[in-house]
Amino acid sequence: MTEYTYEFRPGLEGVPVAKSSISYVDGQRGILEYRGINIEELAQKSTFLETAYLLIWGKLPTREELNRFQEDINRHRRIKYQIRDMMKCFPETGHPMDALQTAAAALGLFYSRKAQLEEEYIREAVVRLLAKIPTIVAAFAQIREGNDPVQPKENLNYAANFLYMLTEREPEPLEARIFDVCLMLHAEHTMNASTFSAMVTASTLTDPYAVVASAVGTLAGPLHGGANEEVLLMLEEIGSVKNVRPYIEHCIENKKKIMGFGHRVYKVKDPRAKILQQLAERLFELTGYDEYYEIALEVERVVEEKLGHKGIHANVDFYSGLVYRKLGIKPDLFTSMFAIARVAGWLAHWKEQISYNRIFRPTQIYVGEHNLPYIPIDERS
Ligand code: ACO
Repeated sequence: MTEYTYEFRPGLEGVPVAKSSISYVDGQRGILEYRGINIEELAQKSTFLETAYLLIWGKLPTREELNRFQEDINRHRRIKYQIRDMMKCFPETGHPMDALQTAAAALGLFYSRKAQLEEEYIREAVVRLLAKIPTIVAAFAQIREGNDPVQPKENLNYAANFLYMLTEREPEPLEARIFDVCLMLHAEHTMNASTFSAMVTASTLTDPYAVVASAVGTLAGPLHGGANEEVLLMLEEIGSVKNVRPYIEHCIENKKKIMGFGHRVYKVKDPRAKILQQLAERLFELTGYDEYYEIALEVERVVEEKLGHKGIHANVDFYSGLVYRKLGIKPDLFTSMFAIARVAGWLAHWKEQISYNRIFRPTQIYVGEHNLPYIPIDERS
């Protein structure tokens, strides 16, 4: 019998589960890089699709490669009528992340699971998932309101087309650009719960639709991607700047987590939160001030004062909700925005995982009993 003597680390904190060249985080200095390029530079100069290509194929595309990638994605934006009809049977009160997880898994019904390791299979799966996940999110958002889904619009880029399908309004160029930057900021983040979930699923060599579906389910939780929705609910509950301090003090006294703060890796302010805050301010200049922004600023000030010394600072989820709300996106769809973006990172890890695959099969420390007798049902107390 194999004896394992490893130390048990709840949450696998600090335990490496992969060797990866996709992204890098320095939590002490607040640095995030995708394939060695700083996220701040990408946010200024790149686009989401170019960044997705970089993450998945490990290099920036040439103009020709990028054009072909964008054209392929444009061609695959529509979803099969069976997926649309299936979503029409979902309860309209169901959470959009549950709808997305179900529909993402259902995509696997239509496409072969064979030849996973072939470059062309990988490319097609990447194109289909990046193209169709936003369409699924927008379609469920329309269907639950009793509307038919809005068809993708050929001449609109990735971000603009998604906002158009969601709101039936073509966004201003600045709105589309800001949303595109949000997607870039959420596209990848080293080893986190949903990426690990994707990799565990990938390691069984199941299809990439199942990989994305399992990652979506993991992202949905309030300790991970679900926090951005919770942040907005918290700001609404606080209601005004004067209520901020007592609210935060009450949370701390009662050991209640303040949503949008704290991170397993970052011990300084999350670099993505800094960029999102700037984007929020640019958006307010265009579309008008947001009543919750002042409350958010005060929350950050008070949390810094009370918990900053413990390394608890604003994370990516703190300002993203304010940006999404200004773009006309409902709070219960915020985590789906995260999912649309993170598909790029999950697929990069899927591709990396299957290139050197070994199935994940960790161990456990058994703390139960042994050799107990089976007690007949009538004799049990
Ligand atoms: N509010 C108040 N206290 C906090 C917070 C917070 N948001 N985050 C951490 N702490 C405190 C804990 O109470 C604990 O204090 P203690 O040592 O006195 O008991 C200490 O900091 C360590 O907290 P853990 O929960 O053990 O830290 P962990 O690394 O496991 O958790 C996590 C990280 C889950 C992100 C946590 O900070 C949290 O729950 N934050 C709120 C939810 C959130 O915003 N999630 C989004 C994260 S970003 C993302 O997933 C994209």
